[in-house]
Amino acid sequence: MSMPAIEIQGVTKAFRHRERQSGAPLWRRAWKEKVALHELDLKVEPGGVTGILGPNGSGKSTLIRILGTLLTPDAGTAKVFGCDVVTDALQVRRHVNRVSVEAAFFKELSPWENMIYASRLYGNTSRGTRRRVVEILKMLGLPEDVIDQPMKELSRGQQQKVAIARSFLTAPSLLLMDEPTTGLDPRSKKEVQAVLERLRAEREITVLLCTHDMDEAAALCDRVLMLDGGRLLADASPDQLCAQHGAATLEDVFMHLSGKTLETEEVIL
Ligand SMILES: Nc1ncnc2c1ncn2[C@@H]1O[C@H](COP(=O)(O)OP(=O)(O)O)[C@@H](O)[C@H]1O
Ligand SMILES: [Mg+2]
Repeated sequence: MSMPAIEIQGVTKAFRHRERQSGAPLWRRAWKEKVALHELDLKVEPGGVTGILGPNGSGKSTLIRILGTLLTPDAGTAKVFGCDVVTDALQVRRHVNRVSVEAAFFKELSPWENMIYASRLYGNTSRGTRRRVVEILKMLGLPEDVIDQPMKELSRGQQQKVAIARSFLTAPSLLLMDEPTTGLDPRSKKEVQAVLERLRAEREITVLLCTHDMDEAAALCDRVLMLDGGRLLADASPDQLCAQHGAATLEDVFMHLSGKTLETEEVIL
């Protein structure tokens, strides 16, 4: 029996923030609890792309950050390939790689330099690395001259592709993608999705993909979990979900379950 890639049991996470009661004076703000994840259970077997679908504020990033050891749960346990995210965080970090909207790079360095740096950081000094970097960057369809330009001169779509390429270079077994295409124009979005598909076909990897883009989830995910207010609403393949709810699209399924729409975000060009 293989080890689950992700095993979450009863994970709860709340944030405290100060809020002014209506009518109260400006300086009187009470502490309030905001539950981001509520007693979440989740098991993901190795391989495939699992989508986490939910509107803004539904707890997607909180889940990703807990699995990436950037946040600790208030209650419950979360394991990545059998390693506990709290007590065995170092081991977990060896398995995971996170790609988020605000990818961190050395902005003055080029994609090529950033990737070589990441590769060395992960202890990869083999001669094959250079060849592999060139290969991946070419596959991305980045123009030759862009590969040597400072990252800060690249478009957001291009930067996002480099972030994805970099995450594959460092060979994680679990790739955590937090809205990798949010804010991209439709064309860059398609290109980033294509890169993901292609790299995924190339190797054994488990992907957890947060998105509020229905079409992206339907196109890329084998399994979709719908999250709302920190609770799981649904868990099945895109086709199964539509069939179960007599819906034509995942958007309709979400509406049916929550009575709300997954509002689309404006495109930031
Ligand atoms: N660092 C934080 N401090 C206070 N509240 C937070 C923090 N991070 C997230 N939250 C709250 O937790 C809820 C879930 O947030 P998040 O996981 O970022 O949702 P999503 O990624 O689905 O948009 C939201 O209501 C958000 O305001
Ligand atoms: Mg988020």
